[in-house]
Amino acid sequence: MAYGDYQNEIYLDGLRGVVPRFPMTYDELEPLAQAAMPPSVRSYVAGGAGDERTQRANVAAFDQWGLVPRMLVGATDRDLSVDLFGMRLPSPVFMAPVGVIGLCAQDGHGDLATARAAARTGVPMIASTLTVDPLEQVAAEFGGTPGFYQLYTPTDRELAESLIHRVEKAGFQGVVITLDTWITGWRPRDLGVSNFPQLRGNCLANYTSDPVFRSRLAKNPEDDPAAAVMHWAQIFGNPLTWADLPWLRSVTDLPLILKGICHPEDVRRAKDAGVDGVYCSNHGGRQANGGLPALDALPAVVEAADGLPILFDSGIRTGADVIKAIALGATAVGVGRPYVYGLAHGGEAGLVHVLRTLLAEADLIMAVDGYPTLADLTPETLRRLV
Ligand code: FNR
Repeated sequence: MAYGDYQNEIYLDGLRGVVPRFPMTYDELEPLAQAAMPPSVRSYVAGGAGDERTQRANVAAFDQWGLVPRMLVGATDRDLSVDLFGMRLPSPVFMAPVGVIGLCAQDGHGDLATARAAARTGVPMIASTLTVDPLEQVAAEFGGTPGFYQLYTPTDRELAESLIHRVEKAGFQGVVITLDTWITGWRPRDLGVSNFPQLRGNCLANYTSDPVFRSRLAKNPEDDPAAAVMHWAQIFGNPLTWADLPWLRSVTDLPLILKGICHPEDVRRAKDAGVDGVYCSNHGGRQANGGLPALDALPAVVEAADGLPILFDSGIRTGADVIKAIALGATAVGVGRPYVYGLAHGGEAGLVHVLRTLLAEADLIMAVDGYPTLADLTPETLRRLV
């Protein structure tokens, strides 16, 4: 896939007097997208934990690294494809799970728009447990692009198993278990306006459509939505321990990936427990403030993983960031807020644009700097600046 050709499209459109409909940089997109969202969604998406230092540090961490250019390589054909869980993906980029993505689209169906963008770009979506539309309807929009499901494991094991079995039936290609959000972190922006979208009944379609969840309620959620929300609040967060892993592993044969792992010892234990991948992330600094940037954790996680696939997110804003994360050892790289803002500002087309700009930039960096394949990007190709 010649991702860099996106720039030819844009320059050729310019010859017809047409300039791009959407901004070319994250910094231009962010304020436009924020203005397009209702205040409650805006604070939820933009905000993070505490004074948001970790959130900012995630982004700043990429400035500490620079790629060393190599000349006379002739990198005319670049190969950005990766092997992941037995699949060949056209690029290492995927869309990180975002629970309120449904609310970020003007029509309130952002999960479906994101799935359609995955179909159009080949960039897989990891669908969150917290969606406006049920997982079966999201999966139906994936086209030929593989999709993944992110599970917030409820305390009700039967419900967890029901969700996972629905995920298998719907054709998802892997289950990501998020470990860092069994309790909500301290988020001053949301606290300041007393807003937590799910408690208002938003993004709970996977629960209210689930036979096990419904069986726990005295009345149908349609007839008594408040009782359904209260029940959801009681079962949502499961403080999983290592003792729960054999159970989770036994529920499905789909690739199992643990999200939120940043310590090498946790990587080794996860590997021993038979997981298929580790997802190094600090949730974009939304959960715990005062932590290290996720990028700083990546090299030790990669070393401990010893060949196990590593997914990474937190702070990816540009194609250059994707390249640096790959060079530090990530197998695949998750985009978070940039695609959320693309959708909020420009709908499905805006989201597709964001993904294409990231991929084009990454591809052209590989061309200019002489690294034709992802395997050529190693820690030795980077220099630390500070
Ligand atoms: C998230 N993230 C997230 N993660 C997850 O496992 N399940 C979820 O439902 C959500 N929901 C969610 C909502 C919003 C609004 C954001 C911004 C993020 C975390 C996400 O998967 C990813 O880890 C971060 O977005 C990465 O940080 P940046 O790069 O977006 O800053």
